[in-house]
Amino acid sequence: MKPKVFIAKPIPQEVEEFIAKHCDYKIWREVEPIPEDILLKEIADVEGLMTPKGIITEDLLSHAPHLKVVSNIAVGYDGFDIEAMKKRNVIGTHTPYVLDEAVADLVFGLILSTSRRIVEFDRYVKDGEWNFNLDSQEYFGKDVHHAKLGIIGLGRIGEKIVRRAKLGFEMDVLYYNRSRKRDLEEKYDVQYRNMNDLLKESDFVVLMLPLTEATYHTMGKEQFASMKRDAIFINCSRGQVVDEAALIEALENNEIRAAGLDVFEIEPVQKDNPLLKMKNVVTLPHIGSCTENTRFDMAMKAAENLVAAVTGQVPPNVVKE
Ligand code: DGY
Repeated sequence: MKPKVFIAKPIPQEVEEFIAKHCDYKIWREVEPIPEDILLKEIADVEGLMTPKGIITEDLLSHAPHLKVVSNIAVGYDGFDIEAMKKRNVIGTHTPYVLDEAVADLVFGLILSTSRRIVEFDRYVKDGEWNFNLDSQEYFGKDVHHAKLGIIGLGRIGEKIVRRAKLGFEMDVLYYNRSRKRDLEEKYDVQYRNMNDLLKESDFVVLMLPLTEATYHTMGKEQFASMKRDAIFINCSRGQVVDEAALIEALENNEIRAAGLDVFEIEPVQKDNPLLKMKNVVTLPHIGSCTENTRFDMAMKAAENLVAAVTGQVPPNVVKE
C-alpha cells in the first residue's frame, strides 16, 4: 500500500505525477488558500503534508496523529513550531537553493525601482503628467552603479546579490553576518563590517536575514537612525525582521530616502498601512520566488522531500533546528 499524503495547494502536473508514482494522494486544487477546517480534516489519516504556508502548530499536529513529514514549499520555515514537531517525531523539510537567483533578481528590481523612481514616474506618465520639470533636482534619482551596498545576512541569496552587485553594477559591497565569510570576502572582494558601521556607510541596505527569535526586529529605530539620510532600505526576507513602526517613522522624518519592500510585518499588508501612501516606497506582495521556473523547481523539490520521508529515506532538505 502506498503512503497517504495531502498536498495543500495546486502544483504542476509533472510534480503531481511524480508524487502519484509513490503515494496515495489528495490535493487542494482551488486557487484560494485551503480553509483551516478542511485542512484539519484532510490530514487526519496522512503521513505526509505538502504545504505552501508551513504554519505548523501544536494544534494542527494534534489533528494528524500519523504525520511523519511536513514538506514546506518555501525556503523560510519560521511558521514551523519545531519543538512541537520534534515532540511528535515529525520531520520538517524546505526548498533551499532553487529560489536564490529569483530573489536576488527581485532585490535588484527593488533597488532600481526605488533609486530611479520607476514606479513613481510610471504613474506620472500614465496619469498624463509628463510635463514636470525634469531638470529640477527634486525629480532626480540616485545612482546604483558604483554605489555602496550593505548586505545584512550573507547566506546563499546574499551571495547571489553580491555577484550581481559586483559584476553588473560595479558596486562596493559591505556585509554583516553572524560569522565572517572569509572565502566570499576573497572571492568577491567584499568587506565585513559590524552592523552599525555597515548602516552608517551604505547607500543601499539590503536585509537578507531569516526570521528567528534572534533576528526579530533587527532593524529598529536606532538602526534606521544610523543609516545615511540619502540611503535606501530593501527588505526581501521577512517582515518581522523589521520594526515596521520604526521604518515608517524613519521615512516620515526623512531619516532615510526610500524603501523597497517585498514583505511586511502583517501579510497581506493592511489597507491603512502608511507605507502604502508613500511615493518613495515601492511595495510588492511577497513575490521573491514567484517566477514560473522557480515555482516549478520549488514544487518539485518539496515533492522529492515529501516522497523521501514517507518512503523511509532521508529527505534531502531537512530543516535545521
Ligand atoms: C520562501 O520560500 O520562504 C519565500 O519567502 C516564499 O515564501
